[in-house]
Amino acid sequence: MLPLTKSINANESSTIQRVKTGITGLDDLLGGGLPKNTITLVSGPPGGGKTIVCYHFLYEGAKNGEKCLFLTLDKKVEGLLSQARELGFDFQPFIEKAQIKFLFLNINKKLIYETMTNEILSERYDRIVLDSITPLSEMPIYIKNPEVKTNDINIITPEDFSTDENFPVRRLHLHYIVNALETSQATSVITSELPFGSQFLSRDGISEFLADGVITLSVDPTMDRRKLSVMKMRSTKHTLRPQDIKISKGGITFS
Ligand SMILES: Nc1ncnc2c1ncn2[C@@H]1O[C@H](COP(=O)(O)OP(=O)(O)OP(=O)(O)O)[C@@H](O)[C@H]1O
Ligand SMILES: [Mg+2]
Repeated sequence: MLPLTKSINANESSTIQRVKTGITGLDDLLGGGLPKNTITLVSGPPGGGKTIVCYHFLYEGAKNGEKCLFLTLDKKVEGLLSQARELGFDFQPFIEKAQIKFLFLNINKKLIYETMTNEILSERYDRIVLDSITPLSEMPIYIKNPEVKTNDINIITPEDFSTDENFPVRRLHLHYIVNALETSQATSVITSELPFGSQFLSRDGISEFLADGVITLSVDPTMDRRKLSVMKMRSTKHTLRPQDIKISKGGITFS
């Protein structure tokens, strides 16, 4: 049930399977879409359009009969659905058909990692969105075993995490999330908030290295302009040049 586009344009000779983002201009830029089974980071300032990219991505999947998961840390599901409906993405019929699931993850709940990874691995999801990774990446995680190294992510479990401040803080939770998404074999999009004018590609400064692809969104308030840039995309020949985009009813379009 996973319709994939054959690579076109710049990636014509490639055999990489591509998954459409649902944003026509972006799919053209990427030679058909995101490489299948990869993780793409979408970062940008508040109001930059990160969540709207997620709507496009999952709506495209749901329309094609794929199994989709939207993990949100920012908004309760009702607010998210009404914001999406306002823009023209009506997810309700797909929720009723159990084709898409929206799950609000409460950052204040201790079992947030277990809830998230259990859900990611509970179904054979084709597409997963995590919007956004920022509250998770800023949450201090203490590791009970000080011997655990960053690249030992495969051997640590949530039981190794602690809330005890006497244990050292590690950025292992980002690896933990990326590991769960990779294990799921879905094609995933995670978002990261960036302060206006930031020189980094994500708020935590790490996600961009863990992700297979990085798309940045930016706004120029003075000129009343928005831009989208593909900064990195595995197995893909693409331009780095920022592209002019517009947000209106129907979502993001390239201008
Ligand atoms: N119907 C609409 N018509 C035109 N522009 C819209 C419409 N709906 C939303 N927008 C624009 O999109 C922005 C919100 O986009 P989105 O929610 O994707 O941003 P975001 O990057 O996820 O922000 P945050 O970091 O706050 O979550 C609004 O600030 C507004 O500028
Ligand atoms: Mg958002």
